[in-house]
Amino acid sequence: MMFENKHIVVGISGGIAAFKAAGLVSQLRQKGAEVHCIMTANAAKLVTPITFGELSGNDVTVDMFANISKWDVEHIALAKLADLFVVAPATADIIGKVANGIADDMLSTTIMATKAKVLFVPSMNTNMYENPIVQANMEKLRSFGYEFVEPESGHLACNTSGKGRFPALTTIMDCAEKCIYGRELLKGKKIIVSAGGTQEKIDPVRFISNRSSGRQGYAIAKAAWMEGADVTLVSCTTALPTPYGVKMVYVQDARELEKAMNAEYDSCDAAIMAAAVSDYRPTVQADQKIKKEDFDSLHIDLTQNPDILYGLGQKKRGQFLVGFAAETQDVIEHGKSKLKRKNLDMLVANDVAMPGAGFNGTTNIASLLYKDGHMEQYPKMSKDELGHIIIEKMAELMK
Ligand code: PMT
Repeated sequence: MMFENKHIVVGISGGIAAFKAAGLVSQLRQKGAEVHCIMTANAAKLVTPITFGELSGNDVTVDMFANISKWDVEHIALAKLADLFVVAPATADIIGKVANGIADDMLSTTIMATKAKVLFVPSMNTNMYENPIVQANMEKLRSFGYEFVEPESGHLACNTSGKGRFPALTTIMDCAEKCIYGRELLKGKKIIVSAGGTQEKIDPVRFISNRSSGRQGYAIAKAAWMEGADVTLVSCTTALPTPYGVKMVYVQDARELEKAMNAEYDSCDAAIMAAAVSDYRPTVQADQKIKKEDFDSLHIDLTQNPDILYGLGQKKRGQFLVGFAAETQDVIEHGKSKLKRKNLDMLVANDVAMPGAGFNGTTNIASLLYKDGHMEQYPKMSKDELGHIIIEKMAELMK
């Protein structure tokens, strides 16, 4: 489990989104974390501490001077225990207090006393969020190494619309994971990743595509972001949510994908082609929907698409280039030949005929082949895990 054996202290300050922190506590616990909650007195007026006690399975601390049974000096004990401190929602008030060294209640005191990473999840009215004082306080905290999750834009409790919404739980979970496990292996590096299957248009309503879900490419992009890279994800159409912290470029067909990859390639340090590119496209793309009344049988003539990865290999100027091979037979042999022909530094070979590997599912089975001829074979694992391995191996070779 993601947060197994990790102690996460969740600080809840008095914003209207305090009720959303209940979902966060529940998620963290479901992912294996031992969660302790500290609430400000105002947060405890909005949501009862009993809710957080039930969800975390631990006593909730509000009052600094309450009768404490478990801890000697509680703010110090929780501060020491924490592997991560998440402040959600973080009001302008708690941000301002910490930025200015004020420690006047249990939450602010514990934050000041911890050496763990602190992740603030600001959530407030747009004007408050954009107030230069709040912005300056956040800037100051960032300069001291405090982390922030960017709020979302949308409808706010004050019946206005703008930036300040409590982010999606998946976003906060991803940021928490980055705070705990990220090692900044790719700090300062620009990485482009492609994902998903291209759609080659037949007419305005039909296309040729494949079974790629985009999961493997998205997992690699997330792993690179977690390691501090500046990531661009060139994504074909997928059903996946937009990942946090990554620049998105959406494309539909192979020629758009080629254009997008080329646009980013010269300035990148590494490119990873996980997209499943259609080798062919219809030679003619009908402007109007093809009617069955017009044809008894229909033949679609196909033209070969550019080999995007081959093109990137040809114009390589120091970039680390990673390709995939989706094969159904002689996987390693075909992989080796693609690695060489496309001038790659690393190739991820997956036998897409094996159960639990390749297209669409949440797991993959892969071998990593390297330019120097050596090879590593991995058992079935989640696409997330494989994404981390690919990024770790790549970062090691890019040093
Ligand atoms: O998206 P998921 O559902 O998670 O599935 C993951 C995956 C199976 C799509 C992924 O693991 C994978 O194997 N991606 C590569 C699929 C593919 O196109 O393989 P290929 O062997 O046909 O191509 C070899 C390499 O050349 C690939 O890196 C491909 O992106 C690239 N290519 C292929 C054809 C083409 N015209 N241009 C290319 O750049």
